[in-house]
Order: sequence, then C-alpha cells, then structure tokens
Amino acid sequence: MLVAELYARYSSDLARLARFASLGERIGKSFASEERRILYLMTRHRAPQLIVEFSPKRGWSTLHMAAALEDNGRGHILSFELEPVYAALTRRTLKEAGLAHRAEVVVGDVREEFPRLSADRKRWRADPGLEFLFIDSDHSARFADWYLGNLFPLVRQTGVIQVHDVEAPPEIIAEGRTFYSDKPSGEEERLAAYLLNRSESYRWFSVAALVRDADYLAAVRPYGGGGIALPSQNRRVHPSEARLGFERNPSLWIDRLAPQEQTPYPGLPFDPIPRSPLARAGYAVRRLIAPVYAPIREARRNRKLKRRQERYVDP
Ligand SMILES: C[S@@+](CC[C@H](N)C(=O)[O-])C[C@H]1O[C@@H](n2cnc3c(N)ncnc32)[C@H](O)[C@@H]1O
Repeated sequence: MLVAELYARYSSDLARLARFASLGERIGKSFASEERRILYLMTRHRAPQLIVEFSPKRGWSTLHMAAALEDNGRGHILSFELEPVYAALTRRTLKEAGLAHRAEVVVGDVREEFPRLSADRKRWRADPGLEFLFIDSDHSARFADWYLGNLFPLVRQTGVIQVHDVEAPPEIIAEGRTFYSDKPSGEEERLAAYLLNRSESYRWFSVAALVRDADYLAAVRPYGGGGIALPSQNRRVHPSEARLGFERNPSLWIDRLAPQEQTPYPGLPFDPIPRSPLARAGYAVRRLIAPVYAPIREARRNRKLKRRQERYVDP
C-alpha cells in the first residue's frame, strides 16, 4: 500500500527518470525496473539528511538516490567503494547527471573506512544514528556478519535499510530457497536469521515478493510501474532473468521499529581482505591513476560489450 501510494504521489517525477536511459545503457542496471523506481520513491519518501551506501560500483543506485535527494532539495550520500576505478566511475556518473554535489565517494574497504569516518564528527553530517542505510556490496556470510553486528545496532528508530540481492522475503529464505535460485547466498541466510530472530524490532517488504503480487502490479501500472518484462532489445539478460522470463527484482526493504541499540561504533572484528605484496602495490597504483585510467578502461569495456551485443540473438 505504501509503495502504491508513493507511485501516485510522485508519478510525474518518476517519469523524469527516463533522462538516465542512456547512462543506464553504459553503466549497467543492477537495479532494474520496479526496484529502481522503488529506490527513488523510498528516498523521496524518507527524505534523509544522510544516506550511507555500500557500494556504488558505477553509480547506478547512487544516481537514483541522488536524484531523489535533489528533488527533495536536501540530503547527502556517503558512499563506500572498494575498487578505485569504480569510485572514479561513480563520481563521473554523478557529474554527468549534474548531481555530484549530492554524494561523496570514499575509496577503500567499507569495514575499515566506515569506523574512521564515523569518528569524524565534522565530516559526519548527521546526528548519531543511521537513518538510511543502502547495502549492495560483498554478498558473503562474513561480510553480512560485519554489517549486522556493527551497523544494524547504529540504525535509528524509524530508520530504513535497503539490502540488494536478497531474492525472497526472510521467511522463504529460512526454508532454504529463494524465488530465483535453489540455495540462498551466505548473506541472505545470515540476514534472514537475524531478522526472524528480532521480528519485533524490524518489519520488511521484499520487492521480489511484490512483483509476484497481481494486486500490487495492477495498483502501480496506471503510474508507470509494474513493468517487469524482459526488454525486447537484444540486451544480454541475466541467466535467472532468462529462466523466469522477466527482470529480477531482489531488494529487501527493512524498517527499524525498536530504539537504536548503540551510539558508538561497536567495533566487532573482521578479517581484512588478504592481498599479496604485488596485489597491494597494484591497488595503490590504481588509487593514484583511477581518475585518468577509469574512463580508458570503461571505453574499452563498452566497445567489447557493444561487439558482443551485436553478435547476440534474442532467444
Ligand atoms: C553489486 S556491486 C554494486 C552495484 C551498485 N549498487 C549498482 O547499483 O550498480 C558490488 C560493489 O561492492 C564493492 N565492494 C565489495 N566489497 C567491498 C568492501 N569490502 N568495501 C567496499 N566496497 C566493496 C565492489 O567493488 C562492487 O563495486
């Protein structure tokens, strides 16, 4: 009901998302149709002062949240990206859309950079407590343990968390399956167990479940929503999409109902990413040259993709 109401309230602004079509062709669309619109709508609705995002990759998710903040006339994104080349591409994406002023992209492992930044009260634009947390990063169980232990307790009462690539509601994942695959990922399993054990503290809705609800689809279609069919152009589709016959929409939206548990960062330990001396040197060099190197690497990738698409025949 909430999402359908948001569609009605912001339908004319939603139509303006079409201006990102050419960017989407280039930077990829991990947030397809329905969840891309819901990401925009929920950001409008929550109107946060600060969004903490990990991670942006080429900035498709960042772009939609930044556009919503711009339309709200307030708010900022602090976005953490491990790979320097992607961080540079996200900055470029935002700049091209005229939204660079809405986000700061921090390069590094979010597990190291977040505590560093959260201790810096001047840089941190919000009062204690996270009001809008966006998660689409490393999908392992260990990484989920880090954010569940260290960040969920920092979420304010009435704060919201969006986790991407959670392919069913927690109740289904607890049965050992998702709508899109036979085995949940480590992240899906940890998150589902965490939420089901604290069901009085959180409530949630799954976009994967919404797109299976005929009433929901009928309610949002008049406002340009509910379009989850596979695109007819010769775009290469994800294998799960091809199997199902429509675009995947795997975001879980979580509301925190209970009071914030902790104010300082809990500091539960994690295993740093293992890197050989050579890999460390390569990373340091990429950090230095990313602003110049990223567009060159991206142009090469796009040429390759274009050639592949020209060869691809829609099944
Ligand atoms: C699935 S992609 C994000 C897609 C993006 N949200 C979008 O809309 O296109 C996952 C990203 O997480 C980044 N990542 C993985 N582990 C990370 C870590 N420990 N800290 C920060 N970023 C990380 C990867 O480099 C990658 O860019």
